[in-house]
Amino acid sequence: MSALVTENPTVAGQQQYGEVFPYIYVLNSDGVSLDETREWIREHRDRLVDEVGQHGAVLFRGFPIDGAEDFDAFIRAFELDSFTYEESLSNAVRINKTDLVFTANEAPPEVSIFLHHEMAQTPLFPSRLFFCCEIAAEKAGQTPLCRSDVLLKRLNEAAPGFVADCERLGVRYSNVMPAEDDPESGQGRSWRSTLSVGSKEEAEARLDELGYSYTWLDGDVLRATTPTLPAIRTLVDGRRVFFNQLIAAFRGWKDTRNDPGKAICFGDGSPIDTVGMQTAIDLADELSFDLAWQQGDVALVDNYLVMHGRRPFEGSRRVLVSLVADDGSRLAA
Ligand SMILES: [Fe+2]
Repeated sequence: MSALVTENPTVAGQQQYGEVFPYIYVLNSDGVSLDETREWIREHRDRLVDEVGQHGAVLFRGFPIDGAEDFDAFIRAFELDSFTYEESLSNAVRINKTDLVFTANEAPPEVSIFLHHEMAQTPLFPSRLFFCCEIAAEKAGQTPLCRSDVLLKRLNEAAPGFVADCERLGVRYSNVMPAEDDPESGQGRSWRSTLSVGSKEEAEARLDELGYSYTWLDGDVLRATTPTLPAIRTLVDGRRVFFNQLIAAFRGWKDTRNDPGKAICFGDGSPIDTVGMQTAIDLADELSFDLAWQQGDVALVDNYLVMHGRRPFEGSRRVLVSLVADDGSRLAA
């Protein structure tokens, strides 16, 4: 099968940072089975995983993947430990398709999901993400990908004081969670589902365990604030990344319960510098590669090195996700 795979073809908008971003494999045949594909992955598995860590994202295009079951089988060939949606503290409402696969985000098509590292607003996050395009949007719906190490370098040149504050103080996130899932919101996951609990008492025990502070609002709505989390991290290879949820929270944590102005603060409680934030947003937009999905595409994204988001779209786009557990191998000690 290897003879049928084109490695590292050029696509529009691809970036060059010494290593190309993203890295791409294209299968040039309709006659290859999913089993053969799985065999090919097993043969090249270590190298593929290394490439994800080096380049930040690897796109597999033209592979025979049609729907959640195929995607599930494709992922399993990598033999990476999965990180389940249930155990996550993500705010997004998702629907499970298989044990490993769920919908990316149920937020309506006109809603932008702004750039973020998956679940960087919680103490528990995946090391990598698999995305799979089950149905391509009729219009737009790209997944912007942004190299967080490149962003941090540029941000440090443009706003060194802001970067120093982020590093020194860390950041805290506040989120207001409904009692029941609200699929109309990009962060509408209920506190019951988010915390995997059935009662307010259990919710409080879980939040205490995680070091969150919290208050109950009218209608069993929960406002929870994280402990101080690092806003910048260093990877094993020395690259430093703007690993946080600041951009998504600042731009997008807005619904009937949430006000972006109250979503983030520095670890000491002081407000985040909005000029610094705007600089980060502008740079991240400039540095984004827009992955324009084709049906059957799979992308494996390093969650430590790359931020992702979702452009608004028209049509019935469906992108599936599977998360890889963190084995501690990506972060410097
Ligand atoms: Fe995400």
